[in-house]
Amino acid sequence: MAHVPLLLLLSMSILSVISGTLQIDDYIWHIKKVPLVVSKRTLSLENPKFSAEAIDELNGTCGIECQRSMPMPTLTDLEENFSYETMYENGTRTLTEVLVRGVDIQTEYELTTNTVHSRRKRQVYGLDSRFSISDKQFITKFPFNTAVRISTGCTGILVSPKHVLTAAHCIHDGNDYLKSAKKLRVGVMKLRTKRSNKKRKGKGKRSKRPKRDVDPKPSFQWTRVKHTQIPKGWFKGLTDNVGVDYDYAILELKRSQKQKHMELGISPPFKKMPSGRIHFSSFDDDRPGLIVYRFCSISDESSDLVYQHCDAQAGSSGSGMYIRLKEPGEKKWKRKIIGVFSGHQWVNVSGVQQDYNVGVRITPLKYAQICFWIRGNYADCQVG
Ligand SMILES: *[C@@H]1O[C@H](CO)[C@@H](O)[C@H](O)[C@H]1NC(C)=O
Ligand SMILES: *[C@@H]1O[C@H](CO)[C@@H](O)[C@H](O)[C@H]1NC(C)=O
Ligand SMILES: *[C@@H]1O[C@H](CO)[C@@H](O)[C@H](O)[C@H]1NC(C)=O
Ligand SMILES: *[C@@H]1O[C@H](CO)[C@@H](O)[C@H](O)[C@H]1NC(C)=O
Repeated sequence: MAHVPLLLLLSMSILSVISGTLQIDDYIWHIKKVPLVVSKRTLSLENPKFSAEAIDELNGTCGIECQRSMPMPTLTDLEENFSYETMYENGTRTLTEVLVRGVDIQTEYELTTNTVHSRRKRQVYGLDSRFSISDKQFITKFPFNTAVRISTGCTGILVSPKHVLTAAHCIHDGNDYLKSAKKLRVGVMKLRTKRSNKKRKGKGKRSKRPKRDVDPKPSFQWTRVKHTQIPKGWFKGLTDNVGVDYDYAILELKRSQKQKHMELGISPPFKKMPSGRIHFSSFDDDRPGLIVYRFCSISDESSDLVYQHCDAQAGSSGSGMYIRLKEPGEKKWKRKIIGVFSGHQWVNVSGVQQDYNVGVRITPLKYAQICFWIRGNYADCQVG
């Protein structure tokens, strides 16, 4: 399994599009006007304690089933949940209250309340697997090089030269920031030339060609995080448990990265995704030094979440889930991130805990929020 040629692997997703039930024309990034999430005011908060332990899996999550029994959120709910906290590297934090404008709540939450969906039998798709990307050239090339390691033990994805999207639980447990989030760093895989430290002495037996770049090895180059942003919907208190719909965060880096990043997109319903599949790459704890790539089919969805049966290990939380669609009028496929892999979770289904791999999707509102965090202005975030 581990040695499927990469090009074959990459083309498999294209083939599956052709053999799919939908016409290729349906697989398009439909660019639309998005709502506005505008800052109202920013308040200083007490410094966080940084007392929380890292989270392996969430337990008692209000998953898709539980969401279906909840009423549609009101505009006030949304403004509460989309307010956000900023934590700076000097250990201070602020809360920014927001106004939400131009949102059609009915349409935005359609997938959650659609009763047809709630009666649909959950499908389990075929075999899904992980592929280790060990080829050092591939590791440091697009799209695999957009995956970054978060120093708290998660994965994230570069969404601008200076911004990383990851899961909120990778830095905050719902009550407080993680201990390990105090000195937050992001590791980017770089090919580094391993230079021989020993200077050759003595007779200077030289090889014919000058000896250099003998064995360039991929290794992490670490960068400090300037600040982080998390939506308030993630915090406990608004609801009994953490709000898994809001398990996303943006980290702003001190140093810009030269490599290409991946763009954000709005998650279409899974029927509009080639083979209903998502893709993601991560740094799994059981395969150190490797980037692990997988694709798998979504088996159920609400407006904010997807369940899938990807193989996932500790370390993969926070990865960017991406799909490929075409830009209108273009022939080439374009990858965009449409969600954050939240991880393996225990979901409360009528009082019984069941395990799922949960992903948080980028809705139009989340797109507007994350885009503003990245670009810092509303003008660049009107469509998505
Ligand atoms: C989830 O947490 C509850 C209460 O802390 C515990 O009783 C239960 O066993 C946990 N479930 C799993 C699957 O870990
Ligand atoms: C948002 O926050 C409210 C409380 O203000 C909460 O009841 C609700 O479940 C949250 N989630 C959504 C999707 O609005
Ligand atoms: C911490 O950093 C923020 C952002 O750079 C700044 O606004 C704030 O004044 C700083 N606070 C302290 C106590 O240094
Ligand atoms: C699970 O859901 C039931 C209602 O369906 C609720 O009574 C119970 O408290 C929930 N358990 C957890 C751990 O969230």
